[in-house]
Amino acid sequence: MIYFDNTATSFPKPPCVLEAMAKFLNEVGANPGRSGHRLAIESGRFVYSAREAVAELFHVADPLRIVFTSNVTEALNLALNGLLKAGDHVITSSMEHNSMMRPLRCLEQKGVELTVVPCSQQGTLDPGDIKSAIRSNTVMIALNHASNVVGTILPVAEVGQIARKYDLMMLADAAQTAGVLSIDMEKDGIDLLGFTGHKSLYGPMGTGGLIIGERVDLEAFEPIKCGGTGSRSEHESQPEFLPDKFESGTPNAVGLAGLNASIRWILDQGIENIRSYEIQLTQRLLEGLKSISGVKVYGGQDAEKQIATVSFNIQGKQPSEICLLLDEEFGILCRVGLHCSPASHKTIGTFPAGTVRFGLGFFNTQDEVDFAIAAVRKLAEEER
Ligand SMILES: Cc1ncc(COP(=O)(O)O)c(C=O)c1O
Repeated sequence: MIYFDNTATSFPKPPCVLEAMAKFLNEVGANPGRSGHRLAIESGRFVYSAREAVAELFHVADPLRIVFTSNVTEALNLALNGLLKAGDHVITSSMEHNSMMRPLRCLEQKGVELTVVPCSQQGTLDPGDIKSAIRSNTVMIALNHASNVVGTILPVAEVGQIARKYDLMMLADAAQTAGVLSIDMEKDGIDLLGFTGHKSLYGPMGTGGLIIGERVDLEAFEPIKCGGTGSRSEHESQPEFLPDKFESGTPNAVGLAGLNASIRWILDQGIENIRSYEIQLTQRLLEGLKSISGVKVYGGQDAEKQIATVSFNIQGKQPSEICLLLDEEFGILCRVGLHCSPASHKTIGTFPAGTVRFGLGFFNTQDEVDFAIAAVRKLAEEER
């Protein structure tokens, strides 16, 4: 079996992730921050250690500015619903995942104004187009860091500088880039960074978070859920301090134990090493697929300017058929269709059938890439 669906979720996970989760379940297990006994304190340490790991990865000075959520979808919903109000204007791109687009469309129904800046057919974004879309009531730019359809890396840092210049909030969706590209919120001009644990961070599902930068007005930032935090229990009103204001309910402590281990594993490997290995694999895959007659590869097709996600189609075959044959005849597991991003497919011209997507990860090998190229060649030859 060849697992090429890392863009949906990474698999396998580093063994240390499983070990950390088993250790938590076997030896700790208690509710973090809810009781004063030794196991509750130990559980709280696991969660805080995960906060410190995230802070180190994204160069965040204060780990308490990290709000854990169950995934990036929840993080983006928190940022958008918590900060935008009727009459505000927000700018986004046409390469967004529905996790960004749907909450924005919902807010549009409630009176928030939205501009979707078109990207090129390769999925690239001109920062100048973002600048041109700014109005007097613009308060936020909300941008995907890298496309989950064609892998294109969007110019988050350049747009971040524009956001700083015009005093706008910058929200970045790092679902596909956390752990693969170096992200420094301050240098990149990002005020709100959403991440998910189970993709390029190699952690378990059910983990993620929103990092809240110093420029964000906390008083104006409404929580999207209220409840028990284990702190200030004498009050019926929600605490105002971070992260408790936004972290109600028992956290996914076992998941965070795994995320802590996966991020420390990434830091040990070195992001640069992970990235350069994935560039090599992507380069090989792009060259191989492009050399097959009848295969159309989408996106910029430059491994240095994209993540390890590659979309393609074979002339004469439906994407769903290709995906099925790759699984059944070659044991290659990948994803087909619109990848929860209809806007991206409209941008690259593949709506509504979509594409076949190979999502590579750190555990894939050159041999697997070569085998997959040969499999696609065979399927393409059947059509001639
Ligand atoms: C760019 C992007 N944003 C958001 C998401 C949503 O991730 P999750 O389901 O972990 O919230 C994904 C998942 O594919 C994604 O690729």
